[in-house]
This record gives sequence, structure tokens and C-alpha cells, in this order.
Amino acid sequence: MSDVEAFLSSGVTFGGLSLPSRFLLAPLEGVSDIGFRRLCFEQGAALTYTEMLRARGLAQRNRATLDLIDTHHPAVTTGVQLLATSPDELLAALGVLEQGARGAEPHWQNIVAVDLNFGCPSRDVIQQGAGPALLKRRARIGAIIDALARWKTTTTLPIKAVSIKIRLGLNAKEAEHRVYLPVVEMASSARLDWITVHARHAGQRSRDKPDWTAIGEAKKVATIPVVGNGDVRTRDDARRLHEATGCDAFLIARAAIGSPWAFRALRGQGAADAAAGDIERERVRYDETAARVRTKDKYRQFHGDNFARLLAAARGERAAVVVPKNAHM
Ligand SMILES: Cc1cc2nc3c(=O)[nH]c(=O)nc-3n(C[C@H](O)[C@H](O)[C@H](O)COP(=O)(O)O)c2cc1C
Repeated sequence: MSDVEAFLSSGVTFGGLSLPSRFLLAPLEGVSDIGFRRLCFEQGAALTYTEMLRARGLAQRNRATLDLIDTHHPAVTTGVQLLATSPDELLAALGVLEQGARGAEPHWQNIVAVDLNFGCPSRDVIQQGAGPALLKRRARIGAIIDALARWKTTTTLPIKAVSIKIRLGLNAKEAEHRVYLPVVEMASSARLDWITVHARHAGQRSRDKPDWTAIGEAKKVATIPVVGNGDVRTRDDARRLHEATGCDAFLIARAAIGSPWAFRALRGQGAADAAAGDIERERVRYDETAARVRTKDKYRQFHGDNFARLLAAARGERAAVVVPKNAHM
């Protein structure tokens, strides 16, 4: 087996987190509920995330925000992703997380990682000065990163890793000025456990080609692991991204929606397309879990349609992949 094949087939330890593979399931708004995360995890996703939660909503104990933390299954390694505009807001949200895990929300004890989102391109997020709007505000983003790193050392929760996810800038100009590189340096100085680089700026849509060279630049300045993100669908994509950049792991988003079995193919352990019988069995398991933990209808609707599409494809019918309406991609 060549070195790169061995790398792609290996697990890795980031921070205190021992990961069975180098393929992480991305946070996906409207998609990443517990039933979907469990299926991806069982197919080889090393780590899964809840969708992005607004720190302010968590700090204010907004019920709709609290309900997004569906970490009911202790065997599925899960991180929470937060969107924070300031260190105070972040720490208030993390305080609620700690209190909930000790009291009314015992399933929150299963959270092993916290990630911060500095990439969400939604207009209201940017207007609030959050997400990618923070990338060039070095003092502010540095203070948020430091607050997260410090919290990890003092929290009573069993948090094994803290990380951030960035885009390349708010727009093409910021990407050209490489506003992401000082952020990589700050994350390194704070000794976060990794940084995920989504190789697009916030003005780009997901159909636009990612600039993988930026992941290579990040890797050169980082002293922490770099997780590459953007258009990794197959093992061959992962091989090319690793060879081009030296990235340490991969964050997988749309390919997982396309087929949760993509993870076994990424790991070199099977086909990305599942047999109809397997899809049908997983659809039933998803429904059972969703009923048990009272998953919101919007997720159930989405996955009902997605399983139907996977089944149609397994029977040789053509069906286009969909993503949830209004998701901030
Ligand atoms: C439906 C959908 C929802 C998303 N929700 C989030 C989210 O909650 N947090 C986040 O950081 N990124 C989110 N993203 C962005 C992905 O995590 C990822 O960065 C992006 O899709 C590029 O990866 P890909 O080329 O593998 O799809 C979302 C993307 C999609 C398609």
C-alpha cells in the first residue's frame, strides 16, 4: 500500500480525540440530526457535528436552539458547532451548555467537541458582524478563539477538542489579501485542536470551484492539524487534496447528503452506493430514532425525501440530490 493510501485508510488523534478515520461529517443545517449522524458515523465518519447553533440563542435558552442539540446517542462522536460574535456571548452559551449537561439536558454530556463557525455566508449572520465578517477583525476573532481555548482547560464537561471552521474571507478581495492566514496563526497560537479551511470565500456558492491552494498555504503556517474542505466527494478527491496541500483530514458535506455510504468509500471499504435493502433498513432505523427523540419535522421530511431518492437510484431510476431549502451553505 502506498503512503498516501495508508494515510487515507488511517485513523488519527487530534487533541484528546482519537478518530477512527480522517473523514469528518460537516455540520449541515437542516440535515445533521441524530439519525443521519449515526448512519454516517457507522459508515466511517470519524466525528459528526450538530448543525450551527447561534451562541446568543443558546445563552438566552431559546428552546428552538436548545432542541438542535440532539446528542442522545453516546456512541456517536459528536461536536456542537456555535456561531459567536464575541467572547462574552460565547462564554455565556458554553455556560448554558455546562448547566444543561449537569441538569435538565443529560444527553448533552455526550458532546466531545466544540467548533466555531467563521464561514456561514448568510446575509443576516454577516450583517450581525458574525461568521466570515470576523475573519479580518483580528482582535475580535483572536479574543473569541482564546476564550474557547481557555474554556476547554476549565470546563467540567468531557470536551476533548475545540476547533474553528473558516472560509477564505468575506469576498474575493479579502481572499486575495489572505485574511485567513493570520486566523490560522491565531488558532495555532491558541493551540486549538484543529482548524477546518473551507476553500471558498463567503461570496462564493457551493457550485463555485474551491481554491485548494489556500488549504496548502494554511497548512504551511499552521502548527495544528488542518482539515481541508470543499468538493471532496470521493477517495480520489481526498488523495488529490492531500497530495496538493498536505492536509491532515477532510470535512465532508454534500457527498454525505448524496450518500451516507460515501464514508465507507472514502475509507476504501466499500461502494458509495448502497443496496436497496440496506437503504430500506436504514430508513426504518432513522424513523424509529426520530420518533424516539422527537426529531423536528423539517429533518424528517428532508430525510424521508433523501432516502426515497437513494432507493430510486439503487433501483436504477434517476433522481437528483436535493439540499434543504434556505440552508446557509
Ligand atoms: C445543506 C447545507 C447546510 C450547511 N450547514 C452548515 C452549518 O450549519 N455550519 C457550517 O459550518 N457549514 C455548513 N454548511 C457548509 C458545509 O459544512 C461545507 O463547508 C460546504 O458544503 C463545502 O463542503 P462540500 O464541498 O463537501 O459540500 C452547509 C452546507 C450545506 C450544503
